[in-house]
Amino acid sequence: MSLLRTDGLTKQFGGLVAVDEVSFEVDSGETRAVIGPNGAGKSTLINCITGALEPTAGTVEFDGEDITGLSPHETVQAGISKSFQTASIFPEMTVRENVEIAALASEHGSFSVDFLKRLSGFDAVHDTTDRMLESVELLGDGDVEAASLPYGDKRRLEIAIALASEPELLLMDEPTAGMSPDETAATVELVEELQDTLDLTILIVEHDMEIIFQIADRILVLNRGQVIADGTPEQVQESEEVQEAYLGGVEL
Ligand SMILES: Nc1ncnc2c1ncn2[C@@H]1O[C@H](COP(=O)(O)OP(=O)(O)OP(=O)(O)O)[C@@H](O)[C@H]1O
Ligand SMILES: [Mg+2]
Repeated sequence: MSLLRTDGLTKQFGGLVAVDEVSFEVDSGETRAVIGPNGAGKSTLINCITGALEPTAGTVEFDGEDITGLSPHETVQAGISKSFQTASIFPEMTVRENVEIAALASEHGSFSVDFLKRLSGFDAVHDTTDRMLESVELLGDGDVEAASLPYGDKRRLEIAIALASEPELLLMDEPTAGMSPDETAATVELVEELQDTLDLTILIVEHDMEIIFQIADRILVLNRGQVIADGTPEQVQESEEVQEAYLGGVEL
């Protein structure tokens, strides 16, 4: 069953059509990848789904509801969450506080940090926080200041922050960017585990073909804003258009 569906989704920046009539579906429970050369429109597509950008045309449907043009906060409440590459962590707060604040914000909108210090009554928030920290294997680091985590653990914390709203669909835009090979391998393993333990549907943008072919059930290929292939890793690999788009670039 399809959880997310776009129909003719289009985003123009002035004369540039960054996302050009993209129609695709994400099924419940699958790991769906979006690939394509630099500037293909991958991030713009993701941002039109989260509501960070308003589409110029087309629709986004989630769980059978039209969510086109909703604000980022509204799409979070609908069940969509995005793991941000930067700036989502409060470095001076502990690991646990970072996830708690995200869990609360998803329910109540933004609020002051002082409010967090009077949190003792929020059992549900504590439970969610524990579960999400456990799912990214940071439960033992709950009281550590976020700033002091090694890079790979910071990225895991960002994923826990994204999970704090208990999404059905997790969007990830190049989650392994800047990671060492070891950290990349650990993150890939984590993504695969998350899908099992949390029953998540994942939409992931990733440059590393090896990773994509390892984790994706289906791959959407964009080039200059348009869909040039959509199918299983095997189908995409055989597509001539895909091979041309990547000519001289990434080897499939
Ligand atoms: N806010 C913006 N204003 C104007 N043009 C933009 C904006 N955001 C993206 N673009 C342009 O839209 C096109 C698609 O950009 P986008 O960031 O979606 O590509 P991408 O596939 O994510 O690329 P990358 O692999 O480099 O992350 C590019 O030509 C980019 O310069
Ligand atoms: Mg991008």
